[in-house]
Amino acid sequence: MAQVFPKSMNVVARVSLLAIPLLAAGGGVTLAALVRSDYVTGAREVTEQPIAFSHKHHVGQLGIDCKYCHTAVYDSANAGFPPTKTCMNCHQQIWQAADILAPARDSYSRGIPIAWTKIHNVPHYTYFNHSIHVNKGVGCVSCHGQIDEMNLVYQSKTLYMEWCLDCHRAPEKHLRPLDEVQNMRFTAAGYKGPEYDAEGKVVTDEHGHPKMKEYRNQSELGLALKKAHMIREPQVLTNCSICHR
Ligand code: HEC
Ligand code: HEC
Ligand code: HEC
Ligand code: HEC
Ligand code: HEC
Repeated sequence: MAQVFPKSMNVVARVSLLAIPLLAAGGGVTLAALVRSDYVTGAREVTEQPIAFSHKHHVGQLGIDCKYCHTAVYDSANAGFPPTKTCMNCHQQIWQAADILAPARDSYSRGIPIAWTKIHNVPHYTYFNHSIHVNKGVGCVSCHGQIDEMNLVYQSKTLYMEWCLDCHRAPEKHLRPLDEVQNMRFTAAGYKGPEYDAEGKVVTDEHGHPKMKEYRNQSELGLALKKAHMIREPQVLTNCSICHR
């Protein structure tokens, strides 16, 4: 599908932001609504890729782990894109002659990476790092939406500063157990896991085994994990220098 609005609309949005104070009394409100709309933030915009790769098929239906392809996500700032070799592990056998996969075969035989277009971008003056988020229990779905239902990936959050800050003020709304980070369907209500004490230590029974408990909702689980994962307080996490270094 073709892009409806070019990325340069973002520039238009910035310029119109400056105009808001001047219009404050009159049309300012509608303009502000437009500035935060999906079209302007780039959210839900579909981007053409060299190969129409579908997360819906590969993740939603085949159930492949995010980490199988985005190998760096737990260890580095960038999640990265898979090398063509990863595709060929399967596509030398499955759909090996399909036209749609011609760019992959070409890339593989010539040793030139597929030129995927990056969709999510934070400005260079902002520091973002995947590894700390996923290692502290923030799920991919909290920031990327329902990837397992997307044929072509689109940006489902604004990635504005206020979006980052909303979560840094109250991360407990999003925290989950570390082994559920890639799960696109996780819900805290009814989750059975270790019980934590007020210091965030696992509570054990007389044999030293972790005591299990059933959590009722996200806030109960999130507050326990906030201690267990040693998440710092909002004053620290909203400090300008944490993201603007
Ligand atoms: C079989 C390999 C494969 C698996 C498994 C996979 N991805 Fe991807 N992913 C890709 C490829 C290839 C791209 C680049 C093309 C595109 O944007 O669709 C991509 C792009 C993305 C993007 C867009 C990045 C950007 O800004 O350009 C996100 C977000 C993403 N993947 C998240 C996930 C999540 C979350 C999972 C697990 C639930 C996952 N992926 C599983 C191969 C994979
Ligand atoms: C673990 C195995 C596996 C890996 C790795 C894999 N695929 Fe697939 N892919 C499949 C299977 C199985 C199908 C067939 C799905 C179907 O018929 O519904 C498929 C189908 C496709 C199709 C056909 C259209 C569709 O989505 O049904 C494309 C294009 C494709 N894969 C591209 C890629 C690319 C690009 C990569 C690497 C980033 C990749 N695949 C990695 C197993 C894999
Ligand atoms: C706290 C929010 C957050 C979480 C959690 C998160 N991402 Fe991202 N992701 C981002 C942001 C922001 C970007 C853009 C980063 C940039 O431009 O430097 C991004 C970019 C990406 C990209 C594009 C390539 C890259 O490295 O920049 C991929 C692929 C991706 N994420 C996959 C994942 C997967 C897979 C997970 C879960 C294992 C995940 N993300 C968890 C916010 C998040
Ligand atoms: C859904 C929740 C969530 C969102 C959204 C989110 N973060 Fe975070 N972020 C966290 C958590 C949780 C931590 C870990 C804090 C800790 O360990 O004390 C963290 C840590 C960080 C750190 C590491 C600080 C350090 O001292 O190493 C940076 C930098 C950061 N986030 C930047 C961003 C930026 C930039 C965005 C927006 C593009 C963003 N985050 C969006 C939850 C989030
Ligand atoms: C959790 C991460 C985070 C923290 C903390 C943070 N910012 Fe940002 N900031 C961002 C992101 C992401 C952007 C780029 C997206 C945007 O423009 O909203 C940004 C953009 C900006 C911009 C450029 C805005 C524009 O429209 O071009 C300024 C100025 C700024 N931040 C100042 C600050 C100040 C001052 C603080 C401390 C009070 C702060 N930031 C704290 C993440 C953060």
